[in-house]
Amino acid sequence: MQRWPLIIFTVLALCLSACAPDDPPPPPLPGTSASVDRGQRIADGLGACGFCHSMEGKPGAPLSGGRMMSDTFGDVAGPNITVSPAGIGTWSESDVRTLMRANKRPDDTYLYSWFHKGNEWMSDADLTALIAYLRSVPAVDTTVERREIGWIERNTTGFFTSAAEVKGYVPHISPRFRVQYGEYLTNSVAGCDRCHATPGGTFGSDEYLSGGAEITFDGETKVAPNITRSKSAGIGDWSEEDLKVYLLSGRTPSGKQVDTRFCPVEFYQRATPDEIDSVVAYLRSLPVIEEPQS
Ligand code: HEC
Ligand code: HEC
Repeated sequence: MQRWPLIIFTVLALCLSACAPDDPPPPPLPGTSASVDRGQRIADGLGACGFCHSMEGKPGAPLSGGRMMSDTFGDVAGPNITVSPAGIGTWSESDVRTLMRANKRPDDTYLYSWFHKGNEWMSDADLTALIAYLRSVPAVDTTVERREIGWIERNTTGFFTSAAEVKGYVPHISPRFRVQYGEYLTNSVAGCDRCHATPGGTFGSDEYLSGGAEITFDGETKVAPNITRSKSAGIGDWSEEDLKVYLLSGRTPSGKQVDTRFCPVEFYQRATPDEIDSVVAYLRSLPVIEEPQS
């Protein structure tokens, strides 16, 4: 019985958004403002949604899409994910949930999951907060064409969609378990490995955080480096403090300033100190790789 007000509210909200596209965006999902704040923390922080879904690729910029990037299938623009009819304004909460859990749009077409690698496993609590936040920001009516990947293209390039689908409840991990929470943030929220993996090709498997992938944004390409704890190829020599400084500023121990158009550190700067400490604790918990001397 308790669900009735929620259902009526949802139907009303859907009706409002469907019947009057010029009206203000639908109200945020029922929930506390704490949950909207948490959602913003994800979008502007480790989740870095605006890195790909804003024209500027910067935190705080409208999530109206348009930034160009590339993957196996060629060029694609980050879509408009504001609540405008040109964005995801007509999607229900469960549509957005399915997109994040299964990379499937409401019209049953699939995204290539690379851009969101790991996000399928975002906890239910974080995903709910993220959706509440997306619904709370103003609509922007910019039209960005959606890409469609054809059946033949998909099936000749190792695009196996159903394997990635996450069904059921994904529990939250307590920040008290620092390393495990860091693992969750690194893999399922920030998805460092989507850029920092060594691509295994169509039939091989990717090598975790070992670097070498070419990352293209706005027509420019850079190689994502190895960030394993390999002493010679990766960042095995970096101290805890070095990693923290990097995530908060983009500066490496050798004094190099990373290009923030390619690695989303301007977003990571907005994560909480607790989140940064957890990511650092996790990355530092990975085994150090000592290469044999040759
Ligand atoms: C590394 C870049 C990148 C990041 C980071 C990213 N996305 Fe995306 N997202 C994309 C691209 C590219 C597409 C479209 C892919 C395609 O068409 O195959 C997309 C598609 C989507 C769609 C479907 C939109 C549509 O109209 O089809 C939604 C919703 C979405 N992303 C939400 C998010 C949220 C929420 C976040 C933050 C947690 C996020 N994305 C982070 C690149 C990214
Ligand atoms: C959208 C792709 C992308 C994502 C996501 C990403 N990175 Fe990066 N990262 C890069 C690229 C590309 C570079 C190299 C940039 C340059 O050459 O200026 C880089 C550089 C780095 C470096 C510098 C390494 C060195 O030896 O100079 C570190 C450390 C790093 N990233 C860590 C991370 C961590 C940790 C995460 C997740 C919390 C992450 N990155 C997420 C693309 C990404």
